[in-house]
Formats: sequence, structure tokens, C-alpha cells
Amino acid sequence: MTTTPVKEQVSKATAPGKAILFGEHAVVYGRPAIAVPINQVWATAEIRPASSGFEIRACDLGQVIQLETAADDDPLAAAVRITLKQLKRPLPAATLTISSTIPVASGLGSGAAVTVAIIRALARYLQSHLDDQTISRLAFEIEKLHHGTPSGIDNTVVTFRRPVYFVRDKPIQTFHIHTPFQLLIADSGISSPTRATVSDVRAGWQERPASYESLFDQIGQIVMDARRAIETGSWEQLGPLMTHNHQLLQALDVSSPALNALIAAAMAAGADGAKLSGGGRGGNLIALVRSDSRDSVRRSLEIAGAAHILVTWVKDNG
Ligand code: PMV
Repeated sequence: MTTTPVKEQVSKATAPGKAILFGEHAVVYGRPAIAVPINQVWATAEIRPASSGFEIRACDLGQVIQLETAADDDPLAAAVRITLKQLKRPLPAATLTISSTIPVASGLGSGAAVTVAIIRALARYLQSHLDDQTISRLAFEIEKLHHGTPSGIDNTVVTFRRPVYFVRDKPIQTFHIHTPFQLLIADSGISSPTRATVSDVRAGWQERPASYESLFDQIGQIVMDARRAIETGSWEQLGPLMTHNHQLLQALDVSSPALNALIAAAMAAGADGAKLSGGGRGGNLIALVRSDSRDSVRRSLEIAGAAHILVTWVKDNG
């Protein structure tokens, strides 16, 4: 049963993409990870009054969903339902339109960004306020539908829109970026659902717990070292830490020949370090570059087959 809006106005919200700089996968097992918002790509949710029903239009996915008949585990419908439940509000008669410039299943947090944009737009539409902590907690519930056993890093960085040092089930920690640095984010063009790699890592961990725990520990140490390097402006340490992190992700079997070839191309062209970012097997890699190596690394990645390349500065305000 929907109610006809009386005073709701069109409301719109956006949420950025994100990149994990260090620590993916190990973060699911309690080790720290570092992630930053990527403001060049974003998801948008817009809600406008309708005469009846609640329709969700996800243009990029070619989906039109009627909320009242949507499955319980549909992440878009679930984001609407959980927000209404939190706000203790009935379903309004409205149309929710979602669009996103974040490539899906590529490690840039598109699922979390869409969810956070929906929660913010709906709260705004209903003229209610939700604080970031609550938005992140609600988005985490939806992440479980996307990923199975997420760590919570995506919803955290996308909601707070700040660089984060993230430890599962611990309060968010932000940290100071002493000297901004430049990254290239290159899309392998291979879509790879995070759920699959997360579940493969879990299977490997169950089979060989000691060796996986040791890999997670080594990744955790890299994350701590990277945080110190970022906070003190010891920029030159970051590249080797990235490359070492990638080797450990290879040992976890979440890289792929295509990602490894792109990373080799970036390194050969002068990147200071490079690694996959996010779930792996496909999706994006990140390469640390300087102003004088950026263009040659970019060209080399294009020649090696990168589908799309973003340049981003990592700095305090994201
Ligand atoms: O693929 P993404 O961008 O959703 O990143 C997933 C990061 C993992 O550590 C692999 C999973 C998680 O929930 O932290």
C-alpha cells in the first residue's frame, strides 16, 4: 500500500566510487585496509513523486522494478525498504531513478555507491536526517546481499567520503595524508563479481588456514607500513609496498593473467608500484605514478589493453 505524497519534492543524492589502496581480502579476516573515495565517478539516485506505486528505474542496468513485488534480496529494493524501516515511514508513491558512472563489478564500489545514494536521496525526500554512521550501517546490510560476507570497507569509505584506515567491526579511523600522491586507476575490462573471489578465498582459508593466515598477516603489516609512509610523506616507500601487496594477492589466487600483464606494463613504463584493487581476477588495478611518469604509464596501459583509465590525486579531502 503506498501513500500519495503531499509535500515531497524531487530529491537527489550522489555517492562516489572508491578504491582500496592496500589490504583487500585480508580485511575480511580482521586485518586493516586503506581505501579512498574516487570522486571522478559516482552514483546518482533521484526520487520524484508519482501518482501511485514505487518504481525503481536502473537505467544503466536496463532494469525497472516495482518495489511491492521485488524479491527480498533485490539490493535496490532492499535499500529502499531498509531506509523506510529505519525512518519508520510508510512507502511513498514515487519513482526512484538510479544512474552511475562507476563500472559495475570492477572493484570501484559501485554497489555501495548506489546503495548510499538511494539511502541519502530517500531520507532527503522524506525530509528526514540520517547521520553517516547510520547510513553506513544500513548500506552494510545491503552489501551482504551483493557480497555475502563483506568487511564493510566499501560502505564506510563511500558514506564518509574520506580516506579511511579500516578495521572490521571497529570505529572508522581517518588519517592524515602528508603529501598528496597520484594514482592511475585502470580497468582491465573484465567484469569480476567480488562475491566469487571472496568465496574462493574463504574456501582456500578453510583448506589451508595456516598459510592463508600468514598471507593475511603479511598484508596487514604492509597496510600498517603504508599508513605510516602516507602520514609521514615517505612517498617513495609506497610503490614497493603496493607491488608487494599485489604479490601476496597473487598468492591468494585473486589476480589473473590479464591484470598481471597490465601491472607489468605499468611497471615497465615507470610506475613506482602497482597492484590490483578490490575483489580481483578482473576489475581495476592502481598504479602509483609521478607527474613525469604519468603519461608514459598511461600510454603503456592503453597499449596493453586497459579499457578505461582515471587519474586521481589522493589527498586529505578525498
Ligand atoms: O571489489 P570491491 O571493490 O567490492 O572490494 C572488495 C574488497 C574485499 O576485501 C575483497 C571484500 C570486502 O568486503 O572487503
